[in-house]
Amino acid sequence: SNKYLFKHKGSYFLQDTVTPEYIDSLEDFEIRDSDVFLVTFPKSGTVWTQNILSLIYHEGHRNGTEDTNVIDRVPWLEYNVRKRDYVNRPSPRLFATHLPYYLVPKELRQGKAKIIYVARNPKDALVSRYHFSKLYFKNEKVEDFETFMEMFLAGKVVGNLWLDHIEGWSAQRDNLNILFLLYEEMKKDLRISVLKICNFLGKKLTEEELNDVVEKASFDKMRLDHRANYINTSSGILNSNQFFRKGTVGEWKNMMTVAQSERFDSIFMERMEKLPFKFFWDINEF
Ligand code: A3P
Repeated sequence: SNKYLFKHKGSYFLQDTVTPEYIDSLEDFEIRDSDVFLVTFPKSGTVWTQNILSLIYHEGHRNGTEDTNVIDRVPWLEYNVRKRDYVNRPSPRLFATHLPYYLVPKELRQGKAKIIYVARNPKDALVSRYHFSKLYFKNEKVEDFETFMEMFLAGKVVGNLWLDHIEGWSAQRDNLNILFLLYEEMKKDLRISVLKICNFLGKKLTEEELNDVVEKASFDKMRLDHRANYINTSSGILNSNQFFRKGTVGEWKNMMTVAQSERFDSIFMERMEKLPFKFFWDINEF
């Protein structure tokens, strides 16, 4: 049993972060054309991209709001425990969400707003979540890696089944204004990824601003930036070294046995190969 996880409309959520009523209310949440939504499966580089968006939109235009956390700049659509006022937020509003396509606001499903979907190879997302949930007791209950992997493969984790999440969103790629990015390509060349994001959003940065974003979004800088490592201040449970754990590609190889990896492949590969993305499993593939 898992006392912090509950299921609503086929999706798993954490008890303290959201209520079924709030999820239901999002169906009619009004979307603006100027809204930007960051969509991820958990542990795929959400905070990283939240920070990039925050830097693109807010650095250089700080006017006394220097200390605003990334989470306040790019708040969660569904986890609004602090009851931020989204309706009166000035445009462009930036949001992050882990929701599956079928649970996001109707107008977002109908193609309003811009969406950035960041995906990470699911073995690394699994390993990252395992470590995160092992430390943070209000997440999925973790006994050992083997058991956690089975939960992940059965979709009994926040974000549900990784395959369903990415298929659900990528199936809509022709109906939505959506940019797909891979965690691994961001690792390989953050500058190009930031440029892709800027082009997609129609934001023109100077060379200097671009360099600044790339530098401030680096793993080492973010770990020390109290506006980015907000986990530290909001929960008091994790410190930034635990959240900014490794930030690498291929960490799954240090965790999964050959047998576990083969089991993972036997369940995931057939559907993964039909996805319109090429995943990198290893730093040597670059
Ligand atoms: P690891 O646990 O593998 O280190 P999310 O924000 O979606 O929860 O994802 C968390 C993962 O993104 C963690 O992975 C974290 O270290 C990694 N991450 C955060 N900031 C990063 C950065 N600037 N560069 C690379 N990885 C980053």
